[in-house]
Amino acid sequence: MEITSFIVMDILERAKELEAQGVDVVHMEVGEPDFPTPDEVVEAGIRALCDKRTFYTQSVGIPELRESISQYYLSQYGLEVEPERIILTPGSSPALLVAIRILTEGGKVCGLPDPGYPCYKNMARFLGGAFVPIPVESEGGFKVAARQLKGVHLLIIGSPANPTGAVYNQKELEVLLEAAQARGIALISDEIYHGITYEERAPSILEFTDRAIVINGFSKFFLMTGWRLGWMVVPKEMVRLVQSIVQNLFICPPAAAQYAALACFKERVLAQFREKVEIYRKRRDFIVEALNSMGMKVDIRPQGAFYVYAKASRYTQDSFTFAKRALEEAHIGITPGVDFGDNETHLFVRFSYANTLERLEEGMRRFRRWLETLD
Ligand SMILES: Cc1ncc(COP(=O)(O)O)c(C=O)c1O
Repeated sequence: MEITSFIVMDILERAKELEAQGVDVVHMEVGEPDFPTPDEVVEAGIRALCDKRTFYTQSVGIPELRESISQYYLSQYGLEVEPERIILTPGSSPALLVAIRILTEGGKVCGLPDPGYPCYKNMARFLGGAFVPIPVESEGGFKVAARQLKGVHLLIIGSPANPTGAVYNQKELEVLLEAAQARGIALISDEIYHGITYEERAPSILEFTDRAIVINGFSKFFLMTGWRLGWMVVPKEMVRLVQSIVQNLFICPPAAAQYAALACFKERVLAQFREKVEIYRKRRDFIVEALNSMGMKVDIRPQGAFYVYAKASRYTQDSFTFAKRALEEAHIGITPGVDFGDNETHLFVRFSYANTLERLEEGMRRFRRWLETLD
């Protein structure tokens, strides 16, 4: 089976080896928030365990949490999403697997942004589904355009996007959706980075249609990566099918994680999540400026998530070797563009700013010194 390794995980593992030898590594490769889960959420999880909520739950998740997510769509987006359409999964990755499997049934071809989140294509491969890359360029804001939909039956878009931080605005989503609908193309909207935006909020595809499958979860904005909890919103007539699939594949999402997640929707806890976004914003501004000043071109200022996708062509034509050398020689972890596809990705690297400003400053100092040795 042709599954490519998730290069960022390889980099992370090598960084851990170096650290075990006593080397100090600045991590700018990781794709998870550096903030721990808020106390109130942790305490709710502990309470659930002490109350012996250690059994299987409903396969689609506990009703209280589906209801809370439904309320969240109302308060944050002004949307009425029936709790029945919200299905909880052990992380958003399993939700993606289910969605891709259902929508590629019968040889349907999945269109994937390139550069884009690498697991999309490996999931499609694993499931035996066909896919084609859709090149996205900095001139188009790294977004899929309506004219690029030929030959696909299904499109996955992420907004905010990994690795570029691109956010589709209302108009762009509408135009893309209209073009997709005209061609009978199904849509999966990966909204896992929702909430982490800096200029404008990211609209949900659900604001325009209830026919798309939405993927979201507690890993990013809600700071719960290790708890493994995500959700999908599916069209009404798909609920029963998805329920049967998740019963068979996952039994249910982790019980304690679900009870913990209920605490995420308290206003004072939501305020803590929003504070983190302000911290990311300062880091983004710092790192974009630092990279530009070194000739690592950031054409598009990322509008969301916590990544900067920078052009390294002044220094390299081989982002993989560049990232490996940066780790071995400068002791900084960065992710080569080639992790994200084939479209000019040998010229790009991704920096994650899910690290403290002090560490990012140290990382940029080391990077600058190292680049000077290459010039
Ligand atoms: C775009 C995107 N989608 C989905 C995921 C999966 O997240 P999880 O399975 O932790 O919910 C990630 C994780 O990095 C991601 O970057």
